[in-house]
Amino acid sequence: MTRKAGLAFSKVAVTVSVAAVIGASLFATHSNSDDAAAWRGAFARPSELPVPEGGPDTPAQVELGRTLFFDPVLSQSRTISCATCHEPSRHWGDGRMRAIGEPGIELKLRTPTLLNVGWFAPLGWDGKFPDLESVAFTPITGPNLMNLSEEELIARLRADPDYVSAFAATFEDRQVTRGGIERALAAFQRTIVSGSAPFDRWRDGDASAVEAPAKAGFALFNGKAGCHECHSGWAFTDGSFHDIGVGRDDDIGRGRLFPKSKGLQYAFKTPTLRDVAQRGPYMHDGSVATLREVIDLYDRGGIERPSRSPKIRPLNLSESEKADLLAFLATLTATEPKQKAASN
Ligand code: HEC
Ligand code: HEC
Repeated sequence: MTRKAGLAFSKVAVTVSVAAVIGASLFATHSNSDDAAAWRGAFARPSELPVPEGGPDTPAQVELGRTLFFDPVLSQSRTISCATCHEPSRHWGDGRMRAIGEPGIELKLRTPTLLNVGWFAPLGWDGKFPDLESVAFTPITGPNLMNLSEEELIARLRADPDYVSAFAATFEDRQVTRGGIERALAAFQRTIVSGSAPFDRWRDGDASAVEAPAKAGFALFNGKAGCHECHSGWAFTDGSFHDIGVGRDDDIGRGRLFPKSKGLQYAFKTPTLRDVAQRGPYMHDGSVATLREVIDLYDRGGIERPSRSPKIRPLNLSESEKADLLAFLATLTATEPKQKAASN
């Protein structure tokens, strides 16, 4: 967690980092009941939606944000909405190797899922966005993304009586403003929460919710394979940035923002593993096609270079251990609804 996230989302950030510490220390063995209670605590889902600085999102903000998120009026050509790339039915990604923007141009990056995005900051594969509000106008105005200027978007919304009355009813200044657009989109995105998965039911005490190979895979995840060192807590991410030894030579990730930091060269954001079995291809550049290939990459230890995380090393996993890890990852796919409204 960064300092910024700690300030903006203090309650949640504390819970997540305590969970990460418990997760890091105990998992190799969870044979006695204290350990079992601790691991259950470390992976407990939050009971509330995240609350931003400046107070909780209102239902009106969430609904206005939902309308904006799905409206192609946000793009120059009026054909691309946020949901074109962040599709609810594709777990809030697009299932592509790399995103395709407004003029049919392929971007360098894969579209990340928006699941649980309200709990983590900074955002973006390299962490260039300090918070959720600050993301929106980058895709809207990006020439290769939605390619619409701020002035034109505001003019379009001011010309639409439905938007004029929705902004008037939602914000104190009663106006269509950039700040209102950012707040409404962020409010809606804070309601995008991964649904309950078999793993959660097992964590809640239903021993039959997952099969034996997945249980063995969970022990490997927290033991020999060391995955929990970065994929920690209920959303299976530390919200931080690491070089795991993947990608191209000229693609230095967070190193662009921190040229002097050795450890941040080739570092990218740890993605959530919620719904991961359904969200391929993988990594910031979509360069790894299947989960099996992800496991093989970690087993080899990725590209060896000075910035590679000390937590990444060849793992010497057997075939059956790889199968167990895959079985565990499959238990993170939600079987309950993926999105909760702020009101329920
Ligand atoms: C053309 C496809 C495309 C469109 C349209 C698009 N996005 Fe994205 N989105 C991406 C890509 C690619 C990234 C990764 C960008 C980066 O890391 O620099 C991203 C990143 C994000 C993130 C950061 C997620 C994270 O986990 O770090 C958020 C939030 C987001 N987009 C919200 C939106 C919103 C809101 C809209 C509409 C205003 C939108 N996106 C439109 C492709 C798209
Ligand atoms: C040093 C921290 C670290 C460790 C340890 C680690 N990961 Fe990762 N993981 C990351 C980062 C960072 C990425 C994103 C890398 C990128 O996109 O270039 C990632 C990506 C992934 C992805 C792709 C997800 C997606 O949406 O693209 C999967 C799956 C994954 N890791 C599973 C695992 C498993 C299984 C283990 C244990 C064998 C593991 N990770 C160990 C940090 C880590």
